[in-house]
This record gives sequence, C-alpha cells and structure tokens, in this order.
Amino acid sequence: MKAVRQHGRGGAESLRFEDAPKPSPGPGEVLVRVRAAGVTPTELRWATSRTTRSRTPRPLPFIPGHEFSGEVAELGEGVTTVSVGEAMYGMNDWFNDGAQAEYCLARITDIARKPASIDHLYASVTPISALTAWQGLFERASIGAGQHVLIHGAAGSVGSFAVQLARWRGAHVTATASAANIGFVRELGAHDVIDYRAVRFEERIRGLDVVFDTVGGDTLRRSWSVLKLGGRLVTIAASGEDSQDRRTREAFFIVEPRRGDLEAIAQLIDAGQVRPIVGAEFPLADAALAYGTRPVRGKVALRAGGPSNDAAPHTLSKP
Ligand SMILES: NC(=O)c1ccc[n+]([C@@H]2O[C@H](COP(=O)([O-])OP(=O)(O)OC[C@H]3O[C@@H](n4cnc5c(N)ncnc54)[C@H](OP(=O)(O)O)[C@@H]3O)[C@@H](O)[C@H]2O)c1
Repeated sequence: MKAVRQHGRGGAESLRFEDAPKPSPGPGEVLVRVRAAGVTPTELRWATSRTTRSRTPRPLPFIPGHEFSGEVAELGEGVTTVSVGEAMYGMNDWFNDGAQAEYCLARITDIARKPASIDHLYASVTPISALTAWQGLFERASIGAGQHVLIHGAAGSVGSFAVQLARWRGAHVTATASAANIGFVRELGAHDVIDYRAVRFEERIRGLDVVFDTVGGDTLRRSWSVLKLGGRLVTIAASGEDSQDRRTREAFFIVEPRRGDLEAIAQLIDAGQVRPIVGAEFPLADAALAYGTRPVRGKVALRAGGPSNDAAPHTLSKP
C-alpha cells in the first residue's frame, strides 16, 4: 500500500510518501480502508512519536496521524459487531502505526460508525479533537447547564468542538480567539468572544465555573485567577515548564480513544448540534505540505484516493 512515513525524529521534513507493508488485523482489531485522515501537526513532536509504550526509542519509519474515517476492509479474530464495508471513524493506538495510509489497523473499542450526515473528510478531523473536548468538558470538568465556561483557542480544532459541546450542554460560553475569528466563534455558539491580542481576558471576566485551555503557557498561568472558588481548570496544552505546578499537572489530561464517546458525538453531528471544521484538505501524497499548513480555523485533513461508497455531502451547511 501507499503510506506517509516518518523517517526521523524531527518534524514534517522527515515525512515520505512511499510503499509500505499492508497490515493484517490481530484479535479485536479491524483493517480499515482509509478514506481520509486528520493532521495534528504537534503530534510529530509528542512523546508517542519518539518512544514506545515501554519508553524505548520508537523504531523508524512509522506512519503518523492517529484519526481517520474509512470502511472496514477485514475483521480480526473475535470482531463480530461490525461488517466488512461499514463506514467507521475513530482513532489508532498512539504507539502503533497511524492512519495516513491506504489502510490502517484500529481496535474495535476505538472506533464507531461514521456520522451518516458528513463525508469521510469531515469525519476524519473529528475523533481526536471532539473526544478531547468531550472528555475535558464532561468528564474532567463535569460542566453543567447554566455554568460559565471560558474556552481558550476557540477557533482551533479542539476549541471549535469545545464551544459547540459546551453550548449544547447549556453552559454560558465565553471564548478567546483572534480578531478575524470572532464572528466565526460566535456562529459556533459562543455568547461572548474576547480578542486575546487586544484584551487581557482576566480584565474582562471573573468568577468562572470552568476554564478549558487549549493554548497553554502564559494563557494557562493567567487562567487560574478567573476561576471562582471551587472552579475547575482543564488544560490539554501544558508544557514541561508548566507541569512543575501541581495544580497544572492535575489539570492536564490526554485524550483517550473510546467508542461510546465517538457514538455520542456522531449522534450530535447527525442531529445538527455539532459540526466539524475542515480548514484545508490535501491528497495523502502531500502530507508534508499539509503538516506545514496552519489553518485559520478547524483542522487539516488528508484525502486518501480511490472510490468510496460515501454518499454524504462533501460540505456542510450550518446547523
Ligand atoms: N492533551 C491532549 O489530549 C491533546 C489533544 C489534542 C490536541 N492537543 C494539543 O492542544 C493544542 C491545541 O490543539 P488544536 O489542534 O486545537 O490546535 P489549533 O487547531 O492549532 O488551534 C489553536 C488555536 O489557539 C488559538 N490561539 C493561539 N494563541 C492563543 C492565545 N494566546 N489565546 C487564545 N487563543 C490562542 C489560535 O487562534 P488564532 O489562529 O486565531 O490565533 C488557534 O485557533 C495543541 O498544543 C495540541 O498539541 C492536546
């Protein structure tokens, strides 16, 4: 098969589009014919791209990109809940090969039926970002109706899902974004949007129930002061320096692939409550270019060629 493979410890300059062995599903796994895969640019620098689960150096080359949408091509031993040809979306194990290839492996517990109302491209940018927003807001922060949440980085891939999910849950949503994205973030459902370059958010709001941080650094450090007593902060972007602080270590979490959450997210998408944002798309062969592209909104997707039985539209109208 054709695949994007990472040949070095650096960034996108070490990516090659080349032939690679087509994998075979083991027990509890499926082989997926990938139709599209999401691009998380920071992933190439994450620990999971450098080491194995047992912390030895990760063998090179490996296939990056751990979210996808596609069709089941083969069933591993013991898999009985899906059939060959079914459209699924989800994540791959971080420590194994990813989805930027014609085929990938995924555990049956890490995938769900693709939302029927969107095409593979839009479904492919959903798993990591939507699961991160879901798990951060609903599990870590236990956000409830009527609570006031501040979402940093609201025009980004995770932030755009977080705004929509918090609003769906009935929260009052304040968001930070750059000036050009204020209208867009309002359309996603934010009640108020603060231009983070023009205003220091802590001078505008106080007494919040929850802060959901996707930016880290100074933004994260300044966020503690806007929480009310007993308020909760969740961050997905704490750096090594930030994690010296015990509160920050507790506030940080890493997304987990989970079928039940993916099913709930697919239902919301099909009900028109949530929409994924594709900021740019590239063919699989141009992955190196895709990794160097920072979309103004949402996420970059790679389209894997070949005919698919995907009947859903390529673009979405606003819910
Ligand atoms: N822990 C986890 O499980 C997990 C999962 C997914 C992602 N992540 C990490 O989370 C971070 C965000 O991921 P993403 O995919 O959402 O990134 P992204 O799509 O690049 O979005 C980042 C957003 O942050 C905004 N931004 C930059 N500086 C800001 C500031 N000072 N205040 C407010 N907003 C600011 C940008 O807005 P403008 O363009 O308007 O400036 C952009 O929209 C990355 O570091 C990623 O590695 C972690």
